[in-house]
Amino acid sequence: ADSLNQLAQAHGKFMGSAAATAHFSDSQYTEILGREFGQITAENEMKWDTTEPSRGQFNFGPGDQIVDFAQQNGQSVRGHTLVWHSQLPDWVSNLPSSEVRGAMENHVTEVAGHYAGDIYAWDVVNEPFNEDGTFRTSPLYNAMGSDFVAHALRAAKAADPNAKLCLNDYNIEGINAKSTAMYNLVRDLKADGVPIDCVGIQGHLAIQYGFPSDLRQNMQRFADLGVDVAITELDVRMQLPVDSQKEATQSQYYANVIDACLAVDRCVGVTVWGFPDKYSWVPDVFDGEGSATLWNDSYQPKPAYNAVVEAF
Ligand code: XIL
Repeated sequence: ADSLNQLAQAHGKFMGSAAATAHFSDSQYTEILGREFGQITAENEMKWDTTEPSRGQFNFGPGDQIVDFAQQNGQSVRGHTLVWHSQLPDWVSNLPSSEVRGAMENHVTEVAGHYAGDIYAWDVVNEPFNEDGTFRTSPLYNAMGSDFVAHALRAAKAADPNAKLCLNDYNIEGINAKSTAMYNLVRDLKADGVPIDCVGIQGHLAIQYGFPSDLRQNMQRFADLGVDVAITELDVRMQLPVDSQKEATQSQYYANVIDACLAVDRCVGVTVWGFPDKYSWVPDVFDGEGSATLWNDSYQPKPAYNAVVEAF
């Protein structure tokens, strides 16, 4: 049978997954990761707390393992992520405000520079917005205001001129205050000549919250600004226990995401946020929820996997 990525490729898209070096000793994991996907994203290995745990001390080993895996399997790599309020080392939070911009630009320069040539697209800034569309407070925002986004993008462009430079966020699947704030930011960055190539829509969905039925329309409005879009962290969680009705709804959600990407020329691909269910971040973060991925704990493809195949 064709892999998910082969099915996507027939439409000029890719299918990707988050990848975690913690599971590279699990041969069933690496076999599926290498076979089914054309793109991988480091689940944690390129985040600031890993790559620069103390100021000026860089640690590229885990991220390099992700890049090596991708190169051995003919996969592209999405860089995740240069600037984020979370998994931010304490030393950044403890800096005097006047030093934060320099520390951020140095971080972006060193990390994007190290991986230059190996990364097809960077999540330069992850999760800049609150749900109401205001900027999230963080050491970055507190030091620079919303200009931290432009400063990070310009530093990334200088360090890796060939990577596509993206902004990424969650709960921006549908048209709402948060996605409109992202839309306005991209529009303004473009007007100011700041390098911005793409928007990542994370796609952490939950069946109990309904499907964002205007996903396609929302992706299209970003595309119409002249940027690529992608679903970057897709999973569809549910309240446990699983039953066949919930699995059917989950399958429909996965298929709806594929359909939306297929309907938008500038949707370049869909990346799932890991597999199998036992390795998903969902049970750790959302109390009582799980079963969010395409494979069950014994690596059997779930109904949602077949729904993705059929959607292509
Ligand atoms: C998550 C990882 O999956 C977990 O292993 C980690 O403990 C926390 O971060 N949005 C993002 C991702 O952009 O980086 C997050 O990944 C999930 C939410």
